Amino acid sequence: MLLSGLAQAADMTAAEQASAKELAQASGCLSCHALTEKIVGPAYSSVAEKYKADSDAVASLVQSIQYGSKGKWGRIPMPAHPSLSGDDLKTLATWVMTVKK
Ligand code: HEC
Repeated sequence: MLLSGLAQAADMTAAEQASAKELAQASGCLSCHALTEKIVGPAYSSVAEKYKADSDAVASLVQSIQYGSKGKWGRIPMPAHPSLSGDDLKTLATWVMTVKK
């Protein structure tokens, strides 16, 4: 299944990070999220900080992005993103875990 064998938030090269950020931009993520500041959704640096000790963080963030999320950060829910491919979900979740304040 999709979630088996996901790598942990390992190192991405700078080029991989840049292309993941473009994917986030193209996917509309950055209208609600910024890297180091809360907008509608939490800053990605805050997400990375919150889950840094969680070895399943990438897999669980894939689920949150794909199916939506509510109640983890506040009262505003995140909508589901059903049209993203498994690869794109994994890239985005892995990238979020690399964002530093
Ligand atoms: C309409 C605004 C909106 C859009 C678009 C959006 N998000 Fe979110 N996102 C949120 C909100 C609000 C939360 C907090 C949800 C909660 O409290 O559980 C959130 C939470 C998250 C989290 C943390 C989930 C967790 O389990 O703690 C991640 C990671 C994330 N978003 C990534 C993304 C990515 C990647 C995209 C683009 C594919 C995206 N978001 C698009 C509003 C948005």
